[in-house]
Amino acid sequence: MCGIVACCGSDNIPQLLLNGLAHLEYRGYDSAGIAVIDNEEGRLRVVKRLRQSDRGMIDLLREAAAAEGIDEAISARAGIGHTRWATHGAPSVANAHPHLDCEGRIAVVHNGIIENHARLKAELVEEGHCFKSQTDTEVVIHLLEKYYDQADGDLVESVRRTVAQLSGSFALAILHLGHPDTIVVTRNDSPLVLGSYEYGSIAASDTPAIIGYTRDVSYLGNRDLAVLHGDGQIECYDPAGELYVPNIYHIEWDIEEAEKGGYPDFMLKEIFEQPQVVQNTLAGRFDAQAQRLQFDELPLSPADIAAIERVYIVACGTSYHAGLIAKNMIENAARLPVEVQVASEFRYHNPIINGNTLVIAITQSGETADTLEAVRMARQTGAHVIAVTNVVGSRITAEAQTSLFVKANIEIAVAATKSFLAQLVLLSLLALYLAQELGLLTKRKISKYYNEMCQLPAQIESLLAEESVSAVKAAAEACVHAHTALFIGRGVGASTCYEGALKLKEISYLHAEALSAGEIKHGTIALIDPDQGTPVVAVALQSATYDKMLANIQEVKARGARVIALATEGDEQITELVDHVVWLPPVREIISPITASVVLQLFARHIAVCLGRDVDQPRNLAKSVTVE
Ligand code: F6R
Repeated sequence: MCGIVACCGSDNIPQLLLNGLAHLEYRGYDSAGIAVIDNEEGRLRVVKRLRQSDRGMIDLLREAAAAEGIDEAISARAGIGHTRWATHGAPSVANAHPHLDCEGRIAVVHNGIIENHARLKAELVEEGHCFKSQTDTEVVIHLLEKYYDQADGDLVESVRRTVAQLSGSFALAILHLGHPDTIVVTRNDSPLVLGSYEYGSIAASDTPAIIGYTRDVSYLGNRDLAVLHGDGQIECYDPAGELYVPNIYHIEWDIEEAEKGGYPDFMLKEIFEQPQVVQNTLAGRFDAQAQRLQFDELPLSPADIAAIERVYIVACGTSYHAGLIAKNMIENAARLPVEVQVASEFRYHNPIINGNTLVIAITQSGETADTLEAVRMARQTGAHVIAVTNVVGSRITAEAQTSLFVKANIEIAVAATKSFLAQLVLLSLLALYLAQELGLLTKRKISKYYNEMCQLPAQIESLLAEESVSAVKAAAEACVHAHTALFIGRGVGASTCYEGALKLKEISYLHAEALSAGEIKHGTIALIDPDQGTPVVAVALQSATYDKMLANIQEVKARGARVIALATEGDEQITELVDHVVWLPPVREIISPITASVVLQLFARHIAVCLGRDVDQPRNLAKSVTVE
């Protein structure tokens, strides 16, 4: 989605903006631009470019800026930059941000959607304002222009009056020619992070843009406003206009984690980080002395847990798949009924919730609009609402009662990999914790399960070793020219397949479909084309339904499918039946999605690489989806 960087101070402002935007490239965008105040010439200088398929966008923008003298030589103390992912108005230079007012005194960048823009635009046009783009954003500039004059040049007051007119989601950074050492930022339901550093102050829509300058950051609340000064001072105001001192959060990860570090793409790097991520997510959750799992941040007393009648899991995309797998875990361990809903549907299907319902919202980014809306609705019902997220300070952390943080650190590739695995680990622990609190598992069993989970990092390492990766690559190469791929499994294996198919679709653009293996003969088997050797990926690990899986594999094989099996080491039977086997270490069935998913991630990535796709920034996708 769109990205914002804004800074003021004595640094090389154009360079800082461009470097910041480069760190936001991973979010997906179609155009980019920057604006700075040229103090020597006393005017705003703007440069914007459209993305070209064969060029790095920010390099293109850097060249264009340098050609226009917007570089280290310019006398500027404040600037704003933006990467745009089109919502209102096609990708074009005219629609790219920053946008200027009629007089060229104000520049604005905006993330989000101004829902009442049509009405506001009609009023502003009536008043004589001249619009130059099809964006919803432009109403913000003309409102600012109007209120700035009405407020006798009080920039903060004009921003306040403007924001009061806006409905929808927004993060805004505002530059005004009359205030060359200041930037005003504000937000509603769209992320914004701020910090001071040696040479000034800086704000961005996402931490990677500022992490190279400061690791001590603050987050604004909805409709709060901050004034950034060139001397590093930041004033924060709540919606009532009261000045407040924001909490400072220290970011644990550093800039190297937002770099590829020798890997050809971020996705591969992040896949290889998974052993560490799993270890980090397990750490601190088990009190070995008491032999108890600990979730001290959960706002649930033993009586609350005992009274839970039903669990709802709400999430989107990959996080939804983590929810499907967690359903199996919670139902098996804690014997609580679990319903998993895609967040965009949750509000509209009249869910049966009350004070004895536990709602778990899963969102890697913590900013997904559909999931946030589901959480708001759930909170109104009096249910216990907890979030599982990877991003400290994200919107969901302010909306849910409590947040459980997975320890995946920054994830740059659009396709979620390590954050998904971290979600699975955390949700497995949560399922065991609920069982522990309900008295369903003895200390010995809890300790045994936890110790088994502690083997996962080494088991994932073994899947990332050359031999295993080569087996995945060989299987992937045989599927590169397929028209469609099917993924089949049973129980948690089927849920694992949903995620495997999504990964393949989103980064290779190959059609893929996942289904419960038992269902394939009820229709989908017709897709198997013996001339094509339609690939069928079968998650056929040792489990209670293993024999049934073998029967399903035989059914598809008999119709000419090329079968790629994920099988448990030592399974001699399966090699006879399938075309390719990738071996997985033996693990308890309920946590097998954690290992199997690593293989499916590698499989999808290798096909995408063979097809020459942009693995990290697949077409049409964005890292966090902040619109409903
Ligand atoms: C796919 C992917 C998306 C996200 C979905 C929800 O790889 O990343 O399907 O899982 O957009 O995002 P979060 O988890 O941030 O709510």
